[in-house]
Amino acid sequence: MPLVYGRAVGLDCAALRRRMVGVLAGTGAVADEAVLCAMGRVPRERFVPRFWAVDDELGMGGPDHPFEWQPGEGPWGDRANELVYDADRALGIAALGASPWAGWASSVSAPNVVGHMLELLRLAPGQRVLEVGTGSGYNAALLSELVGPAGAVTSIELEPDLAAAAAEHLEAVGCRNVEVVVGDGYAGAPGHGPFDRVVVTAGCPDVSPQWLRQMAPDGLCLVPLQHGGWHPVTALRPSGRGALGRAESPARFLPLRGSGERQLPWAHPGPVGHHGPLSASPLPRAVAVALLRPTPAGHDWARWDLGFLLALEDSRAVSVLALAEDRSLAEVAASGREVIASGEQAAALRDRLVEVAELWLALGCPRMQDYAMSFAPTSPPGRPTARAGTTRDAPSDMPGAQGSPRGTWTVHRTDYDQALWLEEAA
Ligand SMILES: C[S@@+](CC[C@H](N)C(=O)[O-])C[C@H]1O[C@@H](n2cnc3c(N)ncnc32)[C@H](O)[C@@H]1O
Repeated sequence: MPLVYGRAVGLDCAALRRRMVGVLAGTGAVADEAVLCAMGRVPRERFVPRFWAVDDELGMGGPDHPFEWQPGEGPWGDRANELVYDADRALGIAALGASPWAGWASSVSAPNVVGHMLELLRLAPGQRVLEVGTGSGYNAALLSELVGPAGAVTSIELEPDLAAAAAEHLEAVGCRNVEVVVGDGYAGAPGHGPFDRVVVTAGCPDVSPQWLRQMAPDGLCLVPLQHGGWHPVTALRPSGRGALGRAESPARFLPLRGSGERQLPWAHPGPVGHHGPLSASPLPRAVAVALLRPTPAGHDWARWDLGFLLALEDSRAVSVLALAEDRSLAEVAASGREVIASGEQAAALRDRLVEVAELWLALGCPRMQDYAMSFAPTSPPGRPTARAGTTRDAPSDMPGAQGSPRGTWTVHRTDYDQALWLEEAA
């Protein structure tokens, strides 16, 4: 039985919604009909009665000064509606500090990211889902549509004000099968499981043992898992005392806060700038060609693929394709043809970046999806963070990883050791 929503902001939003769904389908960002259908039905504007965004087209706001928008019929309401239905735009909904200039505590992810993650979840009517990070409640409403009245969604939000607003929005649009819980989602939702699906919508330094414990045996958990300075969306299935997994796609999320905050295996997860004069050296031609090769949906995924290996090889990885140490930085330029570096360690970092690029070529330019991975509980559990880091070719007794001819990498997290290896093509 389709949900009947109350009055949206008018026909304009319905038309914009159709246009957004057309863009998502046309660009290949989302192919699943059920997901597209749900996104065509849930009124996104009802979940963001006000938000902050920079509008380059109308010249409103700037990187440090986002503009406050209110969808609807008031001043700038039409333009706000358009921004709400921009398939590629995330919207800030809660500031970390007193002002939105300080960074975001919460944002609604861009529709292309939301839709892609829903597609990866392979939801079916009647399933029970745990969402960590309710935010606006928009994704919870989509989950609710996809599992239908026979299914149930439990959504946890750390910030009580956001949780209360999201519950109101969900109620207002007629979602009856979502329970919003205020709490620290790293502990999961004791007493609410077992869940067929767990989906986390914040960037996580580690996998929570509780998410795996609260899952049904054939369940699926989707986590934006910290990897260098970004969060590949990682699909996990419980296995033994841990999980088996695979990175599915590149992403960047706001960081998880609360009890799941951890010291990271990488030294500089945040943005790092250049200090002092820049020097440049060309990347090997074959690497530049591989980086510039168009991918089927026009994504620049090869950069992320090389960045994935870089974060396994070097704990100084920062951003996607950069290494940083102290006040020195080396990064692959946007052109994909050269490495730009600055600071005292410029030459050493630049050479190391080129070395990893050459290794990537020698390995056959693996994609992030080509690595199999397993997660085994650390010993002792919740090991002190001083041992965090990444190693290569460490002896591994992880299931499936033994004897992988192209080596095994281990990311030493706090709750789990993550082993990764490249599977041989059949
Ligand atoms: C990217 S936003 C989520 C967007 C949301 N799914 C939506 O559809 O609007 C991430 C959210 O995770 C919340 N969060 C951060 N740490 C959390 C934790 N430990 N437990 C629960 N929620 C958390 C933040 O407050 C924020 O609202």
